[in-house]
Amino acid sequence: MIVERVTLGERSYDVVVGAGARHRLAAMIPARARRAAVVTQAGVGVEVDAGIESQVFTVGEGEGAKALSTVEHLCRSFAAWGLTRADVVVAVGGGLVTDVAGFAAAVYHRGVDVVHVATTLLAQVDAAIGGKTGVNLPEGKNLVGAFWQPTAVLCDTEVLATLPERELRSGRGEMAKYRFLGVEDLVHLPLDERVAACVRIKADVVASDERESGRRAVLNYGHTLAHALETAGGYDLRHGEAVAIGLVFAAELALRLGRIDADRVAEHRALVAAYDLPSTLPPGSDHGELMTQFTRDKKALGALTFVLDGPSGVEVVPDVPVDAVSDALVAIT
Ligand code: GLY
Repeated sequence: MIVERVTLGERSYDVVVGAGARHRLAAMIPARARRAAVVTQAGVGVEVDAGIESQVFTVGEGEGAKALSTVEHLCRSFAAWGLTRADVVVAVGGGLVTDVAGFAAAVYHRGVDVVHVATTLLAQVDAAIGGKTGVNLPEGKNLVGAFWQPTAVLCDTEVLATLPERELRSGRGEMAKYRFLGVEDLVHLPLDERVAACVRIKADVVASDERESGRRAVLNYGHTLAHALETAGGYDLRHGEAVAIGLVFAAELALRLGRIDADRVAEHRALVAAYDLPSTLPPGSDHGELMTQFTRDKKALGALTFVLDGPSGVEVVPDVPVDAVSDALVAIT
């Protein structure tokens, strides 16, 4: 087992990575907790033993379940069961489950402890770590939420073997961004070590900028285009697939701004190809609509701000000229 620590003062916690990590759950339950509310989805199929009295609460599948109504339903179910402020929520699933259960834990009794058991690659390298929780509104994704750090995260690489190939591939898209944030070998290391290397970077970034007032935005590398595609909707793309296209786009954009050279762009393309992920926009993509979405991205500090690679590494770059953005879109069409 590999243990990485997210260092945040009294809110510091361990992320345990390895085959069978879920069996460490009982040891991670805060000592004062008498009951564990286990939040999962029917399709997850991963059983956990919290070592204390537990009850399973399921949430629905799909983005529609990532709603305030689900949080209300969970909190009412917790109350009906008698979950107290001293007890614990255990989220077992992918990013949707950790986002929703984490937010319910953040607001129930004004905050109860939560442990995440991440069962998808995407959640293990990103969503379950760093304390971002929340739900969507009809007006936009992740518009309501809270920073609520878990008390531990278990990334069980054994359960990844049961994931559909497309779900795994999507996780690899999120993983790929870490190659450009500092993980040297993302393709040849054993899976546990690759996941742990990504976790280490995320833990370091979160420790330095928990509330995303600056550096944490680098974790959104490749995400500006991904969010634009997801918000525009109508494409058959998983999140990590959209991020992969977004990484190639970001490289092409950085090239046009003179921030990186053609070899570095080729590195982006080669990694995305090695992971069997797409590097071009879906057929029929509307460049005008994507440009409109770029100016609305909630991560943008001003008009046309991107997270781009460069001589000092990946960083937030404001005031990117519109022409360069259009050219980069053409380069991935
Ligand atoms: N997924 C980006 C972050 O946690 O900041």
